[in-house]
This record gives sequence, C-alpha cells and structure tokens, in this order.
Amino acid sequence: MILVTGATGNIGRTLLDELRAAGAGPVRGLTRDAARAWLPAGVEACEGDFADPASLAPALDGVRSLFLVSRIGSDAGILDAARRAGVEHVVLVSSIAVQTHPHLGPARENAAVERLLRDSGMAWTVLRPTQFASNALWWAATIRERRTVRVPYPDTGLPTIHPADIAAVARVALTEPGHQGRTYPLTGPERVTARQQLEAVASALGREVAVAEAGREEAHRQLAAVLGAEAADAVLDLTGGDVNDELLAVRDTVERVTGSAARPFRRWVSENLAAFR
Ligand SMILES: NC(=O)c1ccc[n+]([C@@H]2O[C@H](COP(=O)([O-])OP(=O)(O)OC[C@H]3O[C@@H](n4cnc5c(N)ncnc54)[C@H](OP(=O)(O)O)[C@@H]3O)[C@@H](O)[C@H]2O)c1
Repeated sequence: MILVTGATGNIGRTLLDELRAAGAGPVRGLTRDAARAWLPAGVEACEGDFADPASLAPALDGVRSLFLVSRIGSDAGILDAARRAGVEHVVLVSSIAVQTHPHLGPARENAAVERLLRDSGMAWTVLRPTQFASNALWWAATIRERRTVRVPYPDTGLPTIHPADIAAVARVALTEPGHQGRTYPLTGPERVTARQQLEAVASALGREVAVAEAGREEAHRQLAAVLGAEAADAVLDLTGGDVNDELLAVRDTVERVTGSAARPFRRWVSENLAAFR
C-alpha cells in the first residue's frame, strides 16, 4: 500500500493519477476532508490531519511506502507515526533552499526534516524542488479582476518546475528500485522570469496583462500578512532578492530519473488557463 499525503494538492493529485496509470497497486490519498476531496477512481480517500499525528493511524495502516509533503504539520510526529506503523520507505518533498540558502529559517526547517527522516531507520528519498510553476496561481485573482500585476523582482529568471514533474519523479522513486538513499534537486528545463510567466499567461488568454515592479517593502507587507515576516523574507530572497548560481542552475534530474524531459512553464499555463479567466 502506498499513502500519498497532500493528495488534493498540486503534486499529490497528479501523483495519484501517475500511480494508477502505472498499475502501482493499492494507493491511498490523505485529506482532511474526504467528502470534499476529489480523488481519482480506484484511490481510497483517507482522512487525517498533520496537526494531530495520532489521526494518521488509520491512513497509515498497512502502508509500506509514504509520499510526504513536509512543513505543513508536525513532521517529527508524522515520521514517528509512519515508523511505528511499519512504513519502509518515505519519499519526502523538501526544498532546493536546503542547498541554495541553508541560512534561511524555512530551509533550516527543511534540513531538520531531512535529518529526522535519514535518522528514522526507514529508507528514504528526498526531493528538493525549486519554485513551483503553480505559484503563478497567486496572481490569478489579480489577473481576473485587474489588468496590472505588481511583482517583486520581475526580471529574475528561475528554473521553475511543473508540479507534475515532481509527481513523476516521486512515482518512479516509490515504485522502481535504485532511488532509496538518494537526494534529488529538481528544476524545470529553463529559467523563466515573473515577467515572462505573466506574458505566457497573457498570450494564452489573448489579452494584455501589464507587469509593474513592486518594491521589496510592498511585497514583504503583503506576503508577511499571510506567511509571517521571516517566511516572507525567505520567499523574497529566493525569488530575486538574494539569488546565487546554485538557485539559478537548470538541472537534468527530472529527465535522468523519469526518462522524459521536464515540462516548460507554458505547458503548465495551457493546462491551468481556466484559473486566470
Ligand atoms: N510552492 C513552492 O514553490 C515550493 C517549493 C519547494 C517546496 N515546496 C513544498 O511543496 C509542498 C506543497 O506541495 P503542493 O504544492 O503539492 O501542495 P498544495 O497544493 O499547497 O496542497 C497542500 C496539500 O496539503 C494538504 N494539507 C494541508 N494542511 C494539511 C493538514 N493539516 N493535514 C493534512 N494535510 C494537509 C492539503 O490537503 P487537504 O486540504 O485535502 O486536507 C493539500 O492536499 C510543501 O511541502 C512545500 O514545502 C513548495
């Protein structure tokens, strides 16, 4: 049995499709609300809340492989519950920031979860993705309601990754030999700036979307209201305020692991255009 956490999220819902298509055997998806969650046919929906690791016991029953999105709940408690339930292998979603910006608070938390997993006695595979293409959804309401989007660092190009490529790597790591004890930094196939992302959305929509540069203070105010001040600073450093060669590097890990080239940002746009209309 494979348990996919974050089953209704950007990575999880594609991973469930991938696992079903690959005939990976019994698969369960974790959600806090099974009545609201739409999971693919053949996937068993199981309720549990990361905030209460004890609530994960029914979902973990009989599970041998776990796909875990981290830093949403108590990762120590979740890993402990998994180990006690007999989970043998965990594929963990961490972050590229562990190696590009190890000094930032969120990266230190990611590194701590990686360490907990490596020390847990369970086999492990760590995925370290860069910025997700789906972060563009943060602009969706503004694009629907207004013509101008204000973004910080509009001309910093990062190798944004399609979440389906993270799912594809996770599916291989969960179902094929040779991926235990491996750490995979994951990026898209090319660097794309926020301005180019918005141009891609505008072009697919067939209408103009103007881009205005937001200063760091303005962007920090907005992000801090949702994420808190420290996480807002980290997001701003990672999206343009403090980039380095390690963050800018385009990697071929997706293709090496899955055998298929990583998907470009415009592919994600074409699959998600409805959100911007
Ligand atoms: N966005 C980025 O640029 C980026 C970069 C690097 C790493 N990451 C990592 O990627 C992961 C997020 O992946 P994603 O984008 O696929 O997720 P997502 O779309 O943000 O969805 C979050 C998922 O987590 C579940 N969830 C939220 N709170 C929960 C709780 N208390 N208990 C159980 N489940 C809960 C939600 O399920 P329900 O609502 O159905 O319960 C949902 O399926 C995180 O670990 C993040 O640190 C993100």
